[in-house]
Amino acid sequence: MTTTTTETTTKVIDGKAAAKALRAELATEVAELKELGVTPGLAVVLVGEDPASKVYVRNKARASEEVGIRSVQHILPETTTEAELLSLIGELNADSGIHGILVQLPLPIHINEATVIETISAEKDADGFHPYNMGRLLTGSPTLEPCTPLGVMHLLRSTGVETAGKDAIVIGRSNIVGKPVAVMLLKENATVTLCHSKTANLPEKIAEADIVVAAIGRAEMILGEWIKEGATVIDVGMNRKADGKLCGDVEYAEAFKRAAHITPVPGGVGPMTIAMLLKNTVSAARRIHKV
Ligand code: GUN
Repeated sequence: MTTTTTETTTKVIDGKAAAKALRAELATEVAELKELGVTPGLAVVLVGEDPASKVYVRNKARASEEVGIRSVQHILPETTTEAELLSLIGELNADSGIHGILVQLPLPIHINEATVIETISAEKDADGFHPYNMGRLLTGSPTLEPCTPLGVMHLLRSTGVETAGKDAIVIGRSNIVGKPVAVMLLKENATVTLCHSKTANLPEKIAEADIVVAAIGRAEMILGEWIKEGATVIDVGMNRKADGKLCGDVEYAEAFKRAAHITPVPGGVGPMTIAMLLKNTVSAARRIHKV
């Protein structure tokens, strides 16, 4: 008896494999840096008890250690004041063994996120969220860039699909994903449409796009039938359905039939984010030590 599968490996963009390959390259690079006397160090700060954030922080620490990056975790109680958090960031900024600092978001509501992000030294901003790094990205001379958008662009490049002159649509305008990924696509000479919750005629706009980046954070909101035949679909969403299963922002099964390339959820963009965080930490260490 023969079995048939509907998914071919060339069509499904394997983020897990891409992230693994990237981590292997980073492990070699970190070993070389250690020979030069530089051990990249990453500090991850978590305030509060958010269960999803706790898992992310644990995964970030584990992945760091796997590639040889020194990992330091600061787990602070929900009651931590903004002043206390800013004081810790000040210490990490001054710590010569730390090259990357990441404060897990979201923060408790009594702490101002923008103030925290701006207090992190721009050269240690492993998330690429500091206005200096965001400004560098916007003006076309990027320094440290946000991790999830870097992961999106890496996966897009891995398909071999040309971006220059293509119509790309980004759905979601967050500072973490939507805005920076739109700027990165623009830098790669795509014609970019940035959509959001107030966008009119979203299905018609998506139907014209060669490249679709979904980062809206709503389970299967983007219907497969909206996708243009032969489009490339990168789904940043990570949502939980009523039945407990994980799903993206795109209705995968239907979109799969039309897309030339598509990322699965899970196993697409997700694994790339942490790999890019490690890459940023290594870049920051290189820049700080001029090696
Ligand atoms: N929370 C969700 N995504 C991220 C991220 O990329 N960085 C930080 N610091 N917090 C997040």
